[in-house]
Amino acid sequence: MTIHRYEKIWLTFGIGALIVFLSILGFTAFAEGHTPPGGVLTIDPQLIDTVAPWNAPGVYDRGERVDVYIVGQVFAFNPNRFEVPVGKPVTFHAVTKDVVHSFTIVGTTVNMMLIPGYVNQATYTFKEPGSYLILCNEYCGAGHQVMQAEVIVR
Ligand code: CUA
Repeated sequence: MTIHRYEKIWLTFGIGALIVFLSILGFTAFAEGHTPPGGVLTIDPQLIDTVAPWNAPGVYDRGERVDVYIVGQVFAFNPNRFEVPVGKPVTFHAVTKDVVHSFTIVGTTVNMMLIPGYVNQATYTFKEPGSYLILCNEYCGAGHQVMQAEVIVR
């Protein structure tokens, strides 16, 4: 079998680039002690209605920042409509009582997957007042397309 000269050059370059890339990745991972994400919060989905703060989902103004606790389930979010202030960091904490959902605020960087047994969170500061649509973008059943909510920023 003969390999064309250009093909050899290209193969050498490709394999060389792969080796360099994987070496850098491996070296930095060990050197900087990369590990899978830690500090993951868990919750028993059966206890969501009974333990704080999940038994009272909603908006909690902490002064400098705002916490919002959201419970997702087929096919709704609780709370379904809420208000947060403009220009203040808002941390969304979200759980699901049943299957996988998402908590996605259209037009923002908030796009969380809600996995049964885990608490997910994302922080966002709204710069513009207005009404923002919240959607579920993980297919969760027959009513998936009606699973939505609204956040009013003012
Ligand atoms: Cu919940 Cu799709």
